[in-house]
Amino acid sequence: MRVGLDFGTTNSSAAVYDGERLTLLPLDPVNSSASVLRSTLFMTREGAAYIGREAINRFTEGNVGREIEYEWKYLGDAEVTFAGLGTQQQALYAKVDANAPGRLFQSLKTGLRDRSFRQTSVFGTYYTLESLIAIVLRLIYERIEASLGQPVTGMVIGRPVHYAATPEADALAFERMQAACMLAELPEVTFLEEPTGAALSYARELRSEQHVLVFDFGGGTLDVTIMRLDGRGGRQFIATDGVPVGGDLLDQRLVMGRLLPHFGEGTTLGARRLPFPTHILEHLSEWQSISDMTQPKYLEIIDEAIAIGDRKPELKALRSLVRQNYGLPMYEEVERVKVLLSDADTAVLGMHMGEIDFDETVPRWDFERLIGPDVRAVEACIDRALAAGGLKAADIDVVLRTGGSSRIPRFVRMLAEKFGPDKLQEMDVFTGVASGMAVAAFERG
Ligand SMILES: Nc1ncnc2c1ncn2[C@@H]1O[C@H](COP(=O)(O)OP(=O)(O)OP(=O)(O)O)[C@@H](O)[C@H]1O
Ligand SMILES: [Mg+2]
Repeated sequence: MRVGLDFGTTNSSAAVYDGERLTLLPLDPVNSSASVLRSTLFMTREGAAYIGREAINRFTEGNVGREIEYEWKYLGDAEVTFAGLGTQQQALYAKVDANAPGRLFQSLKTGLRDRSFRQTSVFGTYYTLESLIAIVLRLIYERIEASLGQPVTGMVIGRPVHYAATPEADALAFERMQAACMLAELPEVTFLEEPTGAALSYARELRSEQHVLVFDFGGGTLDVTIMRLDGRGGRQFIATDGVPVGGDLLDQRLVMGRLLPHFGEGTTLGARRLPFPTHILEHLSEWQSISDMTQPKYLEIIDEAIAIGDRKPELKALRSLVRQNYGLPMYEEVERVKVLLSDADTAVLGMHMGEIDFDETVPRWDFERLIGPDVRAVEACIDRALAAGGLKAADIDVVLRTGGSSRIPRFVRMLAEKFGPDKLQEMDVFTGVASGMAVAAFERG
């Protein structure tokens, strides 16, 4: 059986197609929608791996709210040369978090384009990015086989049009993704651009000739494809483009634009009223980098600021955010509010945990202000695709919206202004790409 897989930054789905019926596979029995698996990985101290909702639950149970406790750990002996004293054997120690039960990884796909993300230590064992993605892919593959009850003979896996903004980073990302598939020992794998997948699943129902623009806006990337569908199953590619802008970045905009004052932004230190170092708060731009701040050197700066700063409650909130691992719940709350703002004019972002205690009302207009640069980047991407295809907006017959971020009203409005509201059509935002991958897997079989 040949299978289509959408390995997304935030969510993954898989589907099979037999020429008539499309079936989404249950990848995550614990999730509210079993056909959508969160693309997360939790690795325990003992090396056990969990994916999806269970990964988040295990991390939350074991880490969130727990005080980090450091202990000195003996790493081994090293030869150290002292000026004038010669070379001596010296024992090396490092401060490590003594009780952390495991590490959680999210948005691993985004790491593919980051040359500096080569390997990471999970309690002393080093994993390359490729091997972490391979663990996720292997577990997904095993779930697919279990649910099908028969072997998988081939897979079509989606890839963004551009993983990264530069051709070099893009090539590197794709090589690493292919390496991950090899490490996972998947059966024969071919790749297909994600928005093309979405167009294929739409083309199944189409009976007339159309110019289709697919707007696939997910957690990590925006992908645009323009195709000509002939209504009889034939298709012609006209242009593709993409930018590394997605829902994760929009979450960051909310954190950096609205939440920093709750964590000590604007504090002055001591009688000379020195500013609190801003590089500390830059760590809040990703939940992973919040956990980097658990290093003693950062905690010392925060403790000192609490002693001499003028915004003690906010600085204590920052310490609590870092020491008690509230970075993940903060980002989950921010995402919840962002999703709410797709339907409501205003939403309340509340955090009441440890020493963090605030409610921040976020009106939709302010979210739209914060994402202004991203709206422009997305619009420019569409214009480039149209120009590359020698087309005008009026030549497009239908705009297919897919991907979770394509629900955001500001982007819907931009598309409606450009193409006319009647041309917009929403697909299954979380499973449209996987369905198309399944159609391609069937055709290529
Ligand atoms: N109703 C909504 N309004 C706004 N954003 C939403 C909504 N629903 C989901 N999202 C966002 O959509 C993103 C996930 O979308 P999706 O599952 O399509 O991405 P993905 O396929 O994993 O990512 P990519 O295709 O970029 O690799 C998340 O950032 C999520 O916060
Ligand atoms: Mg996607």
